[in-house]
Amino acid sequence: MNILVTGGAGYIGSHTVVELQKAGHMVAIVDDLSNAKANVIDSIQQITGIRPAFFQIDCADKNALRTVFEQHPVDAVIHFAGFKAVGESVKKPLAYYRNNLDSTLTLLEVMEEFGCKKFIFSSSATVYGPNNPYPYKEEMPAIQSSSPYGWTKVMIERILTDYTTAHPDFCAVLLRYFNPIGSHESGLLGDDPNGIPNNLMPYITRVAAGQLEKLTIFGDDYPTPDGTCLRDYLHVVDLAVGHLKALEYAVKHLGVEAVNLGTGQGVSVLELVHAFKQANGIQLPYVIGPRRDGDLPAFWADAEKAKNLLGWEAMHSIEDMCKSAWEFAKKK
Ligand SMILES: NC(=O)c1ccc[n+]([C@@H]2O[C@H](COP(=O)([O-])OP(=O)(O)OC[C@H]3O[C@@H](n4cnc5c(N)ncnc54)[C@H](O)[C@@H]3O)[C@@H](O)[C@H]2O)c1
Repeated sequence: MNILVTGGAGYIGSHTVVELQKAGHMVAIVDDLSNAKANVIDSIQQITGIRPAFFQIDCADKNALRTVFEQHPVDAVIHFAGFKAVGESVKKPLAYYRNNLDSTLTLLEVMEEFGCKKFIFSSSATVYGPNNPYPYKEEMPAIQSSSPYGWTKVMIERILTDYTTAHPDFCAVLLRYFNPIGSHESGLLGDDPNGIPNNLMPYITRVAAGQLEKLTIFGDDYPTPDGTCLRDYLHVVDLAVGHLKALEYAVKHLGVEAVNLGTGQGVSVLELVHAFKQANGIQLPYVIGPRRDGDLPAFWADAEKAKNLLGWEAMHSIEDMCKSAWEFAKKK
């Protein structure tokens, strides 16, 4: 198939492009490089031997997006493009609502013009909000969030649900990711955010590389076995494969489906830190700091629906995630 991948130069998008190409799909990437580097396209080509078409444009630029659809047939869209830093979204809510909503609305309008009816969306476990019990199940109410970033995901899920109701020949799969970490086995792709990382693993690798002095763990007095927060970490390559499965599903079905992509297991921040040290045989200076506003003590996925509906489950271990993340960091 011909797949348009927005945000395809980013962390999860680039890994997904590799899996799509490996499966024989033709890929066009739209990315404005606001949080990615152009050489990611070279890395993808190095891994797969195929250079994806690349358009450095803003997804909210309708005319530019039209030219992409004119130049490339698009059978389905995987929409990663958006801003993703929870803390930044609290400080810059308008930028988040503008970018994440505009890019999605514009994309849907252009898809409608060109008769494209398959949409895979990067949603997030954040849509379950602070009040649902874990493990999170897809049927739980997803009407809460604790940040403007999270609200953009809730709103876009709503938009896609309403759009699908109005267009019963449309299919939207809302993939609710848990905590992707790790890198492609080649060490050529990985999580390489601009500026100080917001997520744990790229922070860990920069401390390990000596670029940052030490890791601060936010709180060790949570009601969890070791007092640090529990999260559902999954390997980014497993997550990428989940998109392939969602695509296969979308080709054969209509309507809207929300699906968790996680391992179904909680791992604490401290466990991850120790696993990283052990897997790579290196030291990692850390201190315990105060709790961070908005952090939930624990959550992980109920991963049954992904297994039953998409035939997907996470395959990689925490050790794989830690080793591959460090391989990528060392090569930079
Ligand atoms: N990484 C995570 O932990 C996580 C968890 C849940 C959901 N998600 C979602 O998954 C998606 C991908 O996340 P990621 O970690 O790969 O982030 P990322 O920042 O690496 O990738 C997003 C890409 O989108 C591009 N982009 C942003 N706005 C754009 C626009 N208007 N037009 C074109 N390109 C634009 C950026 O340059 C970047 O390359 C995001 O929507 C994010 O919210 C990520």
